[in-house]
Amino acid sequence: MADIKGKVVVITGASSGIGATTARELAKQGALVVLGARRKEQLDAIVKEIEQDGGKAVAVACDVTKRADVTALVEAGIQAFGKADVMVNNAGVMPLSPMTELRVDEWEQTIDVNVKGVLFGIAAALPVFQKQGSGHFINISSVAGIRTFPSGAAYCGSKFAVSAITDVLRQEVGPSIRTTVILPGAIKTELGASIKHQETADALAGLIGTAVPPQCIADAIAFAIGQPADVGVNEIVVRPTAQTL
Ligand SMILES: NC(=O)c1ccc[n+]([C@@H]2O[C@H](COP(=O)([O-])OP(=O)(O)OC[C@H]3O[C@@H](n4cnc5c(N)ncnc54)[C@H](OP(=O)(O)O)[C@@H]3O)[C@@H](O)[C@H]2O)c1
Repeated sequence: MADIKGKVVVITGASSGIGATTARELAKQGALVVLGARRKEQLDAIVKEIEQDGGKAVAVACDVTKRADVTALVEAGIQAFGKADVMVNNAGVMPLSPMTELRVDEWEQTIDVNVKGVLFGIAAALPVFQKQGSGHFINISSVAGIRTFPSGAAYCGSKFAVSAITDVLRQEVGPSIRTTVILPGAIKTELGASIKHQETADALAGLIGTAVPPQCIADAIAFAIGQPADVGVNEIVVRPTAQTL
């Protein structure tokens, strides 16, 4: 496997769950990590922890629904570490509810964070990768990007979009820029807290009960980054064995 050591990895949604665990894991393997999210205090605490363990990290307040914030996040990484090798578009929300509830604000938030946020991440890093002649996009989709379920219209739609966007990107930017889409099943994080429709939260309790810790997704991301430059790990689905969806 190629080395993760010395790679500059920008991660959105790094204040909790999959993003935070990935930042810790990659820093442990010698990557220089650039953490973005809205909760700056949580990012600062993770950076401190990484530095205490001998790693290198910086934190930047970043709302992925604002293109300027995402551009500034990548620029901060270049400022701190001289380059950007990997862009992990991970930030996401999951406010599930039936369409008949017409929670249009939640649909908008889902599209703004999960789809536009990923597109803004691509817009921020792609020119940098093209100039460098190398780079790697890792976009976090979901099993909801290959399976649908009631209450998941906006969320599944957003994650199908992430998978489609990533595959088009792969076809357009090869061979020097790599693309990976990761499709997690139920993972133990704060994501379920974004479900405000109680019946939906209750209906999903069984699925959420099968959830496994986010380390398995951090490991999948590390695997994709660690391959030689001419090997693209394009798609990885990681489910708890107990998950049927
Ligand atoms: N957990 C699962 O079962 C599961 C399954 C499949 C896919 N996923 C995907 O995995 C990704 C990470 O989620 P998670 O499970 O780790 O949940 P999480 O613990 O809730 O983390 C979500 C992250 O996204 C950030 N975020 C939300 N809105 C944002 C915004 N507007 N701008 C910037 N950052 C924002 C949050 O940070 P701030 O609030 O600090 O901004 C947080 O760091 C998401 O894309 C999710 O859809 C998760």
